[in-house]
Amino acid sequence: MVTRQLPKPAELLELMSFKKPELDAKKRRLSAALTIEDLRTIAKRRTPKAAFDYTEGAAEGELSLARARQAFQDIEFHPSILRDVSTVDTSCEIWGGPSAMPFGIAPTGFTRLMQTEGEVAGAGAAGAAGIPFTLSTLGTTSIEGVKAANPTGRNWFQLYVMRDREISYELVRRAAANGFDTLFFTVDTPVAGARLRDKRNGFSIPPQLTLGTVLNAIPRPWWWYDFLTTPKLEFASLSSTGGTVGELLDAAMDPSISFADLDVIRSMWPGKIVVKGVQNVEDSRTLVDLGVDGIVLSNHGGRQLDRAPIPFHLLPRVVEAVGDRTEVAIDTGIMNGADIVAAYALGAKFTLIGRAYLYGLMAGGRAGVDRTIQILGDQVVRTMKLLEVPTLADLTPAHVTQLRRLVPVGEAVRV
Ligand SMILES: Cc1cc2nc3c(=O)[nH]c(=O)nc-3n(C[C@H](O)[C@H](O)[C@H](O)COP(=O)(O)O)c2cc1C
Repeated sequence: MVTRQLPKPAELLELMSFKKPELDAKKRRLSAALTIEDLRTIAKRRTPKAAFDYTEGAAEGELSLARARQAFQDIEFHPSILRDVSTVDTSCEIWGGPSAMPFGIAPTGFTRLMQTEGEVAGAGAAGAAGIPFTLSTLGTTSIEGVKAANPTGRNWFQLYVMRDREISYELVRRAAANGFDTLFFTVDTPVAGARLRDKRNGFSIPPQLTLGTVLNAIPRPWWWYDFLTTPKLEFASLSSTGGTVGELLDAAMDPSISFADLDVIRSMWPGKIVVKGVQNVEDSRTLVDLGVDGIVLSNHGGRQLDRAPIPFHLLPRVVEAVGDRTEVAIDTGIMNGADIVAAYALGAKFTLIGRAYLYGLMAGGRAGVDRTIQILGDQVVRTMKLLEVPTLADLTPAHVTQLRRLVPVGEAVRV
């Protein structure tokens, strides 16, 4: 039998202590986002279709990106027990400097298209969080603008070697003069991948107004208000415009670049040099023999060669081959702090986030990027605590199994 009683007014009052409503709509929106996927949902609602698709899309059938994300979802963790994890330390050293967390912001082109604050939001948020920010050659903020947005934090510069070498070399000199400490030489872009969404959307740079874009603009007035009332959206370091991003890339990139270009750039660059877009063990060995400071295992977020290897699957073999001689980082498909922890456990010394950052940017400008970093950082901390590892150095391959849906038949991969 249940004993019943009359409710006591004091207890009722306690139940009725409502939380103070958040009046700032942006804060309300962002704090309701608990995952990067939640930020993506907000981003999609607020960004015109062509700009959202340019960001979210990948090449051809978008298989590489889907597989890379799946590989991270298929992680199985193996926690230890009874270790003191009242505090965990997420800080690390990478390419000669510190980072408060084992991830940084990847280089992305045309970032102000997604949301008008663009790289300034990314660099400012990264600086505030103590993690590095990477500016792309195809960025929409100048090298000096990024330095101003993140004056004391670490800035990295990503280089595309263009047909007109002088343009690339001048960027290298300016990045060095502005204290950027690491140069990413991106090598997976001899030509642009087929970004079919851009073609289907008739997306061009600068964005064109068509009946479709005007109709699509109606529920997204704030993006258009920003677009029309802020400085013209253009590449900060390149003058070519007119066409899809793919067409612009094809016009600017030199498909004949080679290891000789790496030599030239290294002779010009005073800081650390890292090659981004490495996709097999053999190339990793060659690069390390040539004395690079690091490599980024990446398939460019699936935007270049579709069906390229899954970087997360490649990681253990590359670390085994060169991990004692260089610092290996990884990107493509990271949507959760747990992905970052798993990559670190398997030997990555750092990770980069592309879309996770851009979803935050589209969801709320600078505050949205802050939220991305906070969500990923909280996930990193929680995962480390639940694995019972107090520092990143305590993570080992024994903490992670890669459950593989896709297992190569034979070793066609270059090992
Ligand atoms: C919209 C967009 C633009 C990008 N632009 C560049 C670029 O200019 N240079 C470059 O090296 N990588 C570029 N990337 C690739 C990222 O640096 C990174 O490798 C990739 O986004 C990682 O995958 P993720 O988006 O799943 O995190 C771009 C990625 C996206 C999504």
